[in-house]
Amino acid sequence: MCFSDSLPCGDRPICDFRQECLNIKEKGVIPIMKRFLAVLVAMVMMLAMTAPALAEVKVGVAMPTQSLQRWNQDGAYMKEKLEAAGYEVVLTYSDNDVSRQVADIENMLTADCAVLVIASIDGGSLGTVLATAKEMGVPVIAYDRLIVDTDAVDYYATFDNYQVGVIQGSFIEEKLGLKDGAGPFNFEIVAGSPDDTNAFYFYNGAMDLLKPYIESGQLVVPSGQIDLDVVGTLAWSSATAQERFDNIIAANYAQGEKLDAVLCSNDSTAFGVITALINAGYSEDQWPVITGQDCDMPNMQYIVSGKQSMSVFKDTRTLAEKVVGMVDALKKGAEPEINDTTTYDNNVKVVPSFLCTPVFGSADNYVELLIDSGYYIEENGEFKTP
Ligand code: GAL
Repeated sequence: MCFSDSLPCGDRPICDFRQECLNIKEKGVIPIMKRFLAVLVAMVMMLAMTAPALAEVKVGVAMPTQSLQRWNQDGAYMKEKLEAAGYEVVLTYSDNDVSRQVADIENMLTADCAVLVIASIDGGSLGTVLATAKEMGVPVIAYDRLIVDTDAVDYYATFDNYQVGVIQGSFIEEKLGLKDGAGPFNFEIVAGSPDDTNAFYFYNGAMDLLKPYIESGQLVVPSGQIDLDVVGTLAWSSATAQERFDNIIAANYAQGEKLDAVLCSNDSTAFGVITALINAGYSEDQWPVITGQDCDMPNMQYIVSGKQSMSVFKDTRTLAEKVVGMVDALKKGAEPEINDTTTYDNNVKVVPSFLCTPVFGSADNYVELLIDSGYYIEENGEFKTP
């Protein structure tokens, strides 16, 4: 099925109707039959004009999990904005289970979804189901996370992932005074999930800045764990990050050694690290610089209380709007707006992308950034969605 087949009759290209007339002519249908058909076509067109414009167009939105706050918000915004634009939405969460996400996408295709928007769990595991989508003429937009090893992904909408890492790395550089030659400082790294390409961009953005300081000796990594294959956190799990950090503390910081900074790629990993530090009895004056990403609600509480130093705000409302714009453009047969055609090589093709801008967030600017903008409500020190 192609995208235009799923549109209500009135939205289909007019040539469909002309083609029907030509076919009828060729078959030599008698004039009275022609008149009947002409009336029928006119009636169908009138009915189509009075029908809600996009009521039949279904968009499948596959989110990875409800266990992390951001995806709940992403899913909710996508649904809200697509419905407001007149689409019907099939929204799924796959509990971080790859085979379940594949099944969810298969069901979307069976349900005649005309476009798929996918935030993958494992970017390299969707090749087969997306090959089917391609055969059916269903365009695929990778949402936030790149889908790799397939040509069946048409567009990618995300935040500038490398820049997220740059913001985190620059913060540590500035807080420790590394540019001025300060150090040595003890430093540890907790990165993201190895099956998510974003984890590589975040890590590289930060480490391209910080590695020279490790080489110069201004940053020392007592655990010796530096490369992404040893600092990654499967499924971005807070519990996994905590467990690894419990071990790092026990093995390297049990004799009063000071821990100065921890590069955490996102808020769920920062949450695990903070729990490990609390459990190990770290006091306020021993507390290290800790980075994050997403401005998750529990982490915002830690930012306000000083346990987390910063986060990177990626406004999911902006991303949802961009993706709805892409879906609209595809519906009209137009080219969706993109602003990057070089960065996101998925091993088969460079996926045309739109990169939104990530923003630094901290205790100093969160009111303007998150509260005044209507992203969260703050009540008695707790953060809530409006
Ligand atoms: C990444 C995403 C981050 C973070 C992480 C864990 O792909 O870009 O914002 O949420 O997943 O869910």
